Amino acid sequence: MNQNTIDSIFLQDVIEGLSKSPKELQCKYFYDEKGSALFDQICELEEYYLTRTERKIMLDHAGEMAQQLGEQVMLVEFGSGSSMKTRVLLDALIDPVAYVPLDISEEHLHKTARQLQENYPHIEILPLVADFTKPFSLPDAKRPPSHAAVFFPGSTIGNFVPDAAEKMLMTIANILGPNGGMLIGIDLQKDKSIIEPAYNDSKGVTDQFNLNVLHRVNRELGANFDVDQFKHKAVYNQSLGRVEIHVVSQCNQTVTIGNRTFEFEADEQVLTEYSHKYTIEGFVALASTAGFVLHKQWTDENNLFAVLHLVNEASS
Ligand code: TRP
Repeated sequence: MNQNTIDSIFLQDVIEGLSKSPKELQCKYFYDEKGSALFDQICELEEYYLTRTERKIMLDHAGEMAQQLGEQVMLVEFGSGSSMKTRVLLDALIDPVAYVPLDISEEHLHKTARQLQENYPHIEILPLVADFTKPFSLPDAKRPPSHAAVFFPGSTIGNFVPDAAEKMLMTIANILGPNGGMLIGIDLQKDKSIIEPAYNDSKGVTDQFNLNVLHRVNRELGANFDVDQFKHKAVYNQSLGRVEIHVVSQCNQTVTIGNRTFEFEADEQVLTEYSHKYTIEGFVALASTAGFVLHKQWTDENNLFAVLHLVNEASS
């Protein structure tokens, strides 16, 4: 896809989202270069327990995870970003054939891939710029892999509503084929006193990250959002088990994008992301609809986060 096509899809998605009631912006658009860098900062925040907890689980059990994934694997990572957690796995895998980092942010992806190739000369690094919510095919490796496995960390699956998550899991099952494995990180349901600060940090990095999507629409689509007139808001909805993240208009205002105008009322919320939290049983039930069966699970001592190894046992 060339840049013009990508820009026009972005424009179309933004116009469509802002024409809805309530308004929304798709969360995949957070991750331009600036947004990806801000997200890396979020992952290092004191309040954002997800990344360091998942990393600790992986460090503690990397050997077992590698055993579960098997030899000569082609490891495909969904939404690889800076591949920080992947190194733990790459260090432990048994004779891995290839690593396919897949991300929507091209610049970020290629920078990371170059570094990884230097550090792991024996693993073929095959970066793939792709939107993993759409079907895509895997690249060929020079050495034939025994099978492919998906690594989907960071509880990114939680950013999809359950219906979409189910579709996503079916797409993964199709890419993998029968007996393909998936190592997936999920953030567990817990008290909101732990969850809400993770999305409302004291340094305001999350505010910047959330509002950056408006700056991006301005920069790339020539819109005129007065970003100071919007505020970040993230609240945990206990009954639905999800954090609901919005940008909230601070006054009545009009925004122009190309030849379209959009009215925002004071206190009007624009949905930018959901972050669903699961129980292990709840997630396993969801994954079973796509043919996945739980083979092994790892959690931290406080049961904040879980890493699951699921295998596609659907017969094709
Ligand atoms: N996948 C991350 C999560 O659900 C994304 C995220 C973290 C996020 N902090 C955010 C999205 C703040 C929007 C706003 O935890």
